[in-house]
Amino acid sequence: MGAAIAAQAVRNGVDVAWCPTGRGPASRARAISAGLTPVAGLADLLDSSSVVLSICPPAAAENVASSVAEHGFAGIYVEANAISVRRCQMIMEQVASSGARAVDGAIIGPPPRDDLSTTLYVAGADGDMAEVTDIFRESSVRVVPTGGDQGSASALKMAYAGYQKATRTLAALAHALAAGHGVTAHLLVEAARGSRSPLAEPEYLPSVAARAWRWGPELYEVADTLAALGLPSELARATATTLGRWEDRRDVWDLPLETVLGDLADGHRDRRRSGTAG
Ligand SMILES: NC(=O)c1ccc[n+]([C@@H]2O[C@H](COP(=O)([O-])OP(=O)(O)OC[C@H]3O[C@@H](n4cnc5c(N)ncnc54)[C@H](OP(=O)(O)O)[C@@H]3O)[C@@H](O)[C@H]2O)c1
Repeated sequence: MGAAIAAQAVRNGVDVAWCPTGRGPASRARAISAGLTPVAGLADLLDSSSVVLSICPPAAAENVASSVAEHGFAGIYVEANAISVRRCQMIMEQVASSGARAVDGAIIGPPPRDDLSTTLYVAGADGDMAEVTDIFRESSVRVVPTGGDQGSASALKMAYAGYQKATRTLAALAHALAAGHGVTAHLLVEAARGSRSPLAEPEYLPSVAARAWRWGPELYEVADTLAALGLPSELARATATTLGRWEDRRDVWDLPLETVLGDLADGHRDRRRSGTAG
């Protein structure tokens, strides 16, 4: 993803440098094909750069930030990895304390190509976000401010990634279960009926809460069927447990969405029972 994003900045006429130290042959090949300028040491790379984009394995995000902070980098540091809001905020505090202007970033979409766009959501100071936008002005990277605080871009990524990755995993389980019983063709027919993403239909969620009392036990039946095929049943059980947060919303169809979502938070149900929350 890093090389693909960088290639789009190059396409926009920006000189993009990278540091080959410690990187493997595949990364080198991607950097060459993206038209990036190699700079031997991190210190020289930072001295010659006004903006750093951190796009690396999420587990390495702190290491990259520490190395940049140690050199006292004073430009814009975009933390664009898929990491939790808490980690993102800690990293931004760290690089800011060493003089950088931190921007929270989140990439949603495929590695961009000239004919395929991706979005970099950002949250930071207006001037800093404008500079980042400028880097990708004529490219397939859309830079979109979230309009929220620092951390909000990472929050958006967590919300989207949690949904997207969990649903893909659920699809794999559904297909494994169906294949185990020879009913894949019928599953595909049923799947083709509901074409809209549930993520695009929040207005449907109050009716999920109203049905949770029935859906929960059904999910335990699914878990048993998965387990009988030697398939993992934890996701089905965890879904049933989550539905349990709505256990006393049985057949209440007209709750506001905000109330239904609030029910999911830790302790909310207990506060509701004691009469301190709606
Ligand atoms: N791929 C996507 O479609 C996608 C979509 C949205 C967001 N993202 C986000 O983009 C980020 C990168 O993902 P990716 O899919 O591009 O991962 P990737 O294919 O594994 O590439 C990671 C790159 O980071 C380098 N790297 C590893 N450790 C590093 C370190 N300590 N310091 C500096 N560079 C290091 C790797 O180099 P070597 O392998 O040579 O060591 C490699 O070039 C992640 O935060 C991911 O969530 C990816």
